[in-house]
Amino acid sequence: MVQPKYHVFICTSCTITGQQRGFCYNKGSVPLLQKFMEEITDRDLSGEVVVNNTGCFGICEKGPIVVVYPEGVWYGNVSEEDVERIFDEHFEGGAPVKDLMI
Ligand code: FES
Repeated sequence: MVQPKYHVFICTSCTITGQQRGFCYNKGSVPLLQKFMEEITDRDLSGEVVVNNTGCFGICEKGPIVVVYPEGVWYGNVSEEDVERIFDEHFEGGAPVKDLMI
């Protein structure tokens, strides 16, 4: 198995019943996740950057929440417009985007 360089967890407000409802979902985290997937394809980074959706992290008021490992960087209020910066500066540049960090 290939170990990704970055593992990204995006809150889509999944619940244990399988329903999606909650702050991040209502603020567009599903299209946000799709934007991350598109950028991976466009930049040919599959295998280096892996994305998974998650349930609530418990800090909904700061959502949509995106968590990146291995550093354990937490981004808040992430919009689709922020995705290119995260790829440019963090995944390809090696430096987390400080003004999006929470
Ligand atoms: S619903 Fe996303 S952090 Fe709570």
